[in-house]
Amino acid sequence: MNRKYRKALIAGNWKMNMTSSAVKPFVEGLRAALPKAKSCDIAICAPFPLIPALARAVKDVSRIGIGAQDVCEFKSGAYTGDVSCDMLTDLGVKYVIVGHSERRAYHGEDDFKVNAKLRAAIDAGMTAIVCVGESAEQRERGLTMEHISYQVAAAVCGLTDEQAKRCVIAYEPLWAIGTGAVATADQAQEVCAQIRAVIKRRIGAKTARAISILYGGSMNMKNAASLLAMPDIDGGLIGGASLKPDDFAAIIAATAQEQHNG
Ligand code: PGA
Repeated sequence: MNRKYRKALIAGNWKMNMTSSAVKPFVEGLRAALPKAKSCDIAICAPFPLIPALARAVKDVSRIGIGAQDVCEFKSGAYTGDVSCDMLTDLGVKYVIVGHSERRAYHGEDDFKVNAKLRAAIDAGMTAIVCVGESAEQRERGLTMEHISYQVAAAVCGLTDEQAKRCVIAYEPLWAIGTGAVATADQAQEVCAQIRAVIKRRIGAKTARAISILYGGSMNMKNAASLLAMPDIDGGLIGGASLKPDDFAAIIAATAQEQHNG
């Protein structure tokens, strides 16, 4: 993490888990376990129907931001099953994940759609957490950098400096998501540095320095500190480990640890 230019962010991605009644106890548990030092921004990206319960539960915990896991790129109208940016901001949503590999794989979201969703989200005033990542096969064939560079360039295509500053990029290797097979800190750093280089080329040096890049994929309380110690990794997008308040809090605490270490 480079704290001079960027703020750390630990974002939980609950995916299709939890229930309304489980939200309040979760937030109470997390609040009790959180370190006192506010060493990073915190977000919880919940399924749409749980967002009102999450908003109620975090009402007095201002340091926890409300997030969603997807959003429609269109403003309103005949888009059955979709949820608009206005509907989310109306509920107090500040963060939205865009282009998660599970959306790309199971809902056919391509790079054009990801770009459109990202623009809609940031224009609505939310922080868009856009996900990129290579498959195991792409890594084996030496195509990681090429693939990531393309995905990042496509995601931020046409964005102004100001718009790009409201994005967070999450590097999530597909082979590490939900598998327990975490990328090594060096592997993750190498790709996150490349992501920053693409932003520098496409948008500009200042934005590249200011944009937060997260690692996601089996990040947990044991491996968080070594990943967060890397210069281009500014936080984490946490799936499985964000479902347990103590584990999630321990990852948040790892950002404080890093702050002490420099
Ligand atoms: P995981 O998921 O931490 O369970 O691997 C991360 C993600 O998909 O965002």
